[in-house]
Amino acid sequence: MPVDILVGTQWGDEGKGKLIDVLTRDVDMVVRFQGGNNAGHTVEIGDEHYVLHLVPSGIFRSNVINVIGNGLVVDVLGLVKEIKEIAERGFSIENIRLSNRAQLIFEYHKRADALKETNAGAKKIGTTKRGIGPAYADKMNRTGIRGIDLTNPVRLEEQFRAEAGKYNRVFAEHNIAPLDIDAEWELVRDAAAFLAGFVCDTVYLVNDAIKSGKKILCEGAQAALLDIDHGTYPFVTSSNTISGGACTGAGIAPQTIRDTWGVIKAYTTRVGEGPFPTELFDDNGELLRKIGHEYGATTGRPRRCGWFDAVAGRYSCMVDGVNKLAVTKLDVLDSFDQIGVCVAYDINGKITKEFPASVEELAAVKPVIEWLPGWKEDISKATTFEQLPQNAKNYLARITELVDSKLSLVSVGPRRDQTFEV
Ligand code: GDP
Ligand code: IMO
Ligand code: MG
Repeated sequence: MPVDILVGTQWGDEGKGKLIDVLTRDVDMVVRFQGGNNAGHTVEIGDEHYVLHLVPSGIFRSNVINVIGNGLVVDVLGLVKEIKEIAERGFSIENIRLSNRAQLIFEYHKRADALKETNAGAKKIGTTKRGIGPAYADKMNRTGIRGIDLTNPVRLEEQFRAEAGKYNRVFAEHNIAPLDIDAEWELVRDAAAFLAGFVCDTVYLVNDAIKSGKKILCEGAQAALLDIDHGTYPFVTSSNTISGGACTGAGIAPQTIRDTWGVIKAYTTRVGEGPFPTELFDDNGELLRKIGHEYGATTGRPRRCGWFDAVAGRYSCMVDGVNKLAVTKLDVLDSFDQIGVCVAYDINGKITKEFPASVEELAAVKPVIEWLPGWKEDISKATTFEQLPQNAKNYLARITELVDSKLSLVSVGPRRDQTFEV
């Protein structure tokens, strides 16, 4: 069974891009299976810094096929820009494949996303305004336009003009400027001509690769607590981000899956609105943001920071079925005297280790914090688990035990060589 899955277990930005790049050392194919260019996956190679939004993070290995699967919502103009930038920076784009079943995002989805956020006032989600929600809504409403339509310009134009017209009527009702459909169509037409050559039936491609014994790694975007079913609804994204999403979003069967890597930061961050039990509003929160460079890779927004939340982590590892835990950004904790870990929730006087479904309850949580001693030394040059200070080993052992998972990998810096398996 050659398929492994790698997913985020918190609220995103755990370092998935970095780990996919590292793990593709010996992988034949990387498949993104959900989300869109709301994702920002950073890969650092030497002194070079790359941020990927739609193209899988295996793109920097010349022998790896990179599949944008059927479960994605793909910003047509955004993908063209991203592919061209990759080519300009000297990497081959030949190994990119785009699913004929993937849904497409157009300008009107982005405007609808922004409009919804504006109208929501205090109830806004804090989306990335990339049109993710409206595009998935069109998919479920069965009015979406798909990858396959990029290969048929006549049909694409017909569909695009009809959909854009519908959205323009909604924009008119809200007194916002309509889309210039003719001008936008010209951009879409050119983008479609560029992308058509990348479109194929990725479901057969992936399943044929499985049959012939190739090694496949599925790349999750966002994370379990942003999952549309299992996250902090409604403050979530619009797709199934958990490992199970790989089956629908790549077109693979459950029995083909071997390992599920769960990526977890040694502390917690969140971008956008919604409850965050361990969020810090003090100097420690500011320090985590500063040392961890916690600013969004897609929108540049400062990320909210807090201590490790083992209640949330245990829940995520459970729904994801994580059997390999990868702890990232451990080095960010180097300078702390004491490190907080949330081991339980106090919800209106009731102590629980279960993650509540209700955001009102989650917002009322007082985290029960256990303090662990820091190690107060630079671990960014460690290349084996044994080289870590005892307190760092103890910290890893404790958080791993709390989330009921097996520690398999540690990351102590953004570069490839700052990673070791355990
Ligand atoms: P993703 O969305 O899960 O791929 O994560 P992002 O790329 O949005 O954010 C992770 C950030 O942390 C990026 O800037 C990475 O270069 C960086 N990073 C990844 N792993 C480590 C690590 O172990 N230590 C440090 N200091 N930075 C890391
Ligand atoms: P990666 O893959 C962190 C958040 C947004 C917002 C919510 C809904 O880099 O980890 P959306 O635009 O998806 O409708 O926004 O989800 N969000 C992310 N937060 N990392 C991401 O991706 C995210 N993608 C979406 O901030 O709260
Ligand atoms: Mg990110």
